[in-house]
Amino acid sequence: MPANTRPDYLEVNRANWNRRAEAHLHTEFYNQAAFMQGKSSLMDIERNLLGDIQGKKLLHLQCHFGQDTLSLARLGANVCGVDLSDRAIEEARNLAAQLHIPAQFICCDLYSLDQHLNEQFDIVFTSYGTIGWLPDIQSWAKVVSRYLKPGGVFVFAEFHPAMWMFDNDLQDVRYSYFKTDPIVEIDQGTYADKNTQNQYESITWNHGLAEVMQALLQEGLTLEVFQEFDYSPYQLSDRMEEFEPGKFRYIHLGNKLPLVYALRMLKK
Ligand SMILES: C[S@@+](CC[C@H](N)C(=O)[O-])C[C@H]1O[C@@H](n2cnc3c(N)ncnc32)[C@H](O)[C@@H]1O
Repeated sequence: MPANTRPDYLEVNRANWNRRAEAHLHTEFYNQAAFMQGKSSLMDIERNLLGDIQGKKLLHLQCHFGQDTLSLARLGANVCGVDLSDRAIEEARNLAAQLHIPAQFICCDLYSLDQHLNEQFDIVFTSYGTIGWLPDIQSWAKVVSRYLKPGGVFVFAEFHPAMWMFDNDLQDVRYSYFKTDPIVEIDQGTYADKNTQNQYESITWNHGLAEVMQALLQEGLTLEVFQEFDYSPYQLSDRMEEFEPGKFRYIHLGNKLPLVYALRMLKK
């Protein structure tokens, strides 16, 4: 862990995600009604990188309340989702039961997964808003590699670190791209419900592309595909417009900024 990691960061972030999970269940952003009726929550970016997952064993890290995990199961994968938030995992289990989808869900800190799970997978997957909650990217890469079988693939889609340099409205550069100190914030509202009065304290870290790539390479993974996108598949702010179906950009920035990156790596 970085030397300045606050000892209570997990408790702060768990409380944050327990409250968000509760709020997110009822948001248009997560559109639970459509999901229950069979709509996939997965985006084309990760769908294209995952390919055919029928019959594959898949580990989903930081699965939130399970929509993506269960969407992956609907595509034929045998899924296991992991998340820090007990409220999110409780809801993921409820959803799986209601939909009669077989799935395993584990509630724990990603860094302590080894105490709960002793298997290997064909695919490890994680996406959108995950690694910023983790102080130590080398230890994260070790978890990814530890759970991949030889010949297994890691599929990762994430918001671009260039985006996290800005304030919430992407007006001003607030943080260095190379910032290693934690970012401690209290946000009004959440990305899925900006109008709520709820406040959320968070402790997060920005991880640059080289930091992420070097960590994964050091764990013995080989890069197969690396992509950057000038749009987000999610509308994260009222300042974003949908310029093509399912593609959002900040109105005042056009296509000037990378918003998402994605990769596929192989464990030999
Ligand atoms: C932005 S969400 C993931 C979003 C996911 N793509 C979705 O929309 O469903 C981030 C998730 O990471 C989880 N998380 C944060 N810190 C974690 C940790 N140390 N270990 C495991 N999960 C963690 C949170 O509980 C939350 O559910």
